[in-house]
Amino acid sequence: MTTAAFPPSSPVRTRPFPAWPRPPQGLSERLEQLLASGHWWQSGDGAAEELESWLRAEHQALSCVAVANGTVALEISFRALDIGPGDEVIVPATTFVSSATAVSTVGATPVPVDVDPTTWCLDLDRAAEALTPRTRAVVVVHLAGQPANLPAARSFCDRHGLALVEDSAQATTASWGAHRVGTVGDITTTSFQAAKLLPGGDGGAVLIKSDPQLARRVELLANCGRPRGSGSYAFELIGTNARISEFAAATVMAHVAEYEELWRIRDQTAGRLRRALQCIDPGMVLPPHPEVTRHDWYMFMLQIPATWREAGLGNIAFTAHLNAQGIPAAVIYPPWHHVPAYRGALGDTPVAGHAGEHGIWLHHRLLLDSDTAEDVATAVMHLTEAAAASALQPGGHHAH
Ligand SMILES: Cc1ncc(COP(=O)(O)O)c(C=O)c1O
Repeated sequence: MTTAAFPPSSPVRTRPFPAWPRPPQGLSERLEQLLASGHWWQSGDGAAEELESWLRAEHQALSCVAVANGTVALEISFRALDIGPGDEVIVPATTFVSSATAVSTVGATPVPVDVDPTTWCLDLDRAAEALTPRTRAVVVVHLAGQPANLPAARSFCDRHGLALVEDSAQATTASWGAHRVGTVGDITTTSFQAAKLLPGGDGGAVLIKSDPQLARRVELLANCGRPRGSGSYAFELIGTNARISEFAAATVMAHVAEYEELWRIRDQTAGRLRRALQCIDPGMVLPPHPEVTRHDWYMFMLQIPATWREAGLGNIAFTAHLNAQGIPAAVIYPPWHHVPAYRGALGDTPVAGHAGEHGIWLHHRLLLDSDTAEDVATAVMHLTEAAAASALQPGGHHAH
C-alpha cells in the first residue's frame, strides 16, 4: 500500500476559515443609534427587553431575564430554586465547567453523572443510580448543539420530584422530537459569549417556563434584589448585579435576523462532513439520533479513528496534527470532576472519559465554508494513513 508522506509537505488547508464572531448586517447602525440615544443602561424598553421578549416568544416561556453571561445565569437559577448547602444537583460529566461550578457557588454539591454513548448528553439511567435523598435538581446540557432527550428528562424529574434545568448555552433552536430546547425545563439558561451561535461579546439569559414565583425571584436576584426599573431602596432579596449590557443585547439581536440562513449552511456542511468521515471510518461520527429533529451544530463532534486509538494515540496528538494541516480543531472537555478545581470528586464516568480522550470538535464557523467537508476529510485521511503505516509513534508526535 502506498501511503501519503507524513507529515505532508504542505498543509491541506491554507485559506483561512470564516471568522467568528463577525458583525451581522445592521449591527454598526444599531450600536451607533444606541450610543447616540444615551440609553446605555436598562431603561425599561431598550435592547435587553427586546431580547427578552424575543426569547420568551421563541420558547413559549412565562418569563425571561437577560443577564451578564451564562455562568451567572446558572448561579441565579440555582439560587432562585432555593438550592444550597446540603443539596445535590446531577450534572452531566461532559460539559463546560460552569454547569458544575454554578452549583458549587451556591453551596450545593454537583454530582457528576456519565453521558449517553450515542449523544454525549446526560445518561438518565446513570442519573437514576446517582439519586440520593439530597438530590434537588437535574441539569441537562445540549452539548455542541445536540439536544438532550428532553421528554425523558422531564418525566424522570417529575417522577422523582426534581427541578429540571436546561443548560442551553450551546443550542438555541435544536429539537428532540417536537420539543425545542428551552421549552421543557423549569428553568433554561443560555449564553451569548462571543463564540456562541448568537454572540453578544458576553451575555446570557434565564428562561422560566411557568412558575411566576420563580420568575420573580430570578428578576430580583439579577437586579440587586429589587424589581427591574424600581428606584426603591427596599431591596427584597440579597441579589447581585447580573444585568446584561444594552450593547451586548443589541449585538445579540442583530445576529437573530441571520440565524436561520447560517443554520441552513451549517446543517448542509455538517451532513456532507458526516458522510465523508463515515467513508473513512464509520466509527468516527456519533450516529444521528433518530429522535433529533434539529441539531444546532454549535460544534461538529467526532471521535478519532480506530487506527489512532489502536496506535495508542489520543485526541491531543490528533488535534495537533489536524491544526498543522490548517484545520482548527480542539479536544472535547475532560469530565469536569477531573479538572484541578474538583480534584478528588468521585464519579465513574467511562463514556465522558472516552469523549475527553478521543473526542474532537470543530467550531461552527468552519461549517460556514463550502470546502470544509472535503478539506477536513482529506486531512483526516492523511492522518489515518500515516497511523496505519506506523509513521506516527505515540512518543514521537504526541502534543503536550
Ligand atoms: C454548556 C455551557 N454552560 C455554561 C457556559 C457558560 O457561559 P458563559 O461563558 O456565558 O459564562 C458555557 C459557555 O461557555 C457552556 O458552553
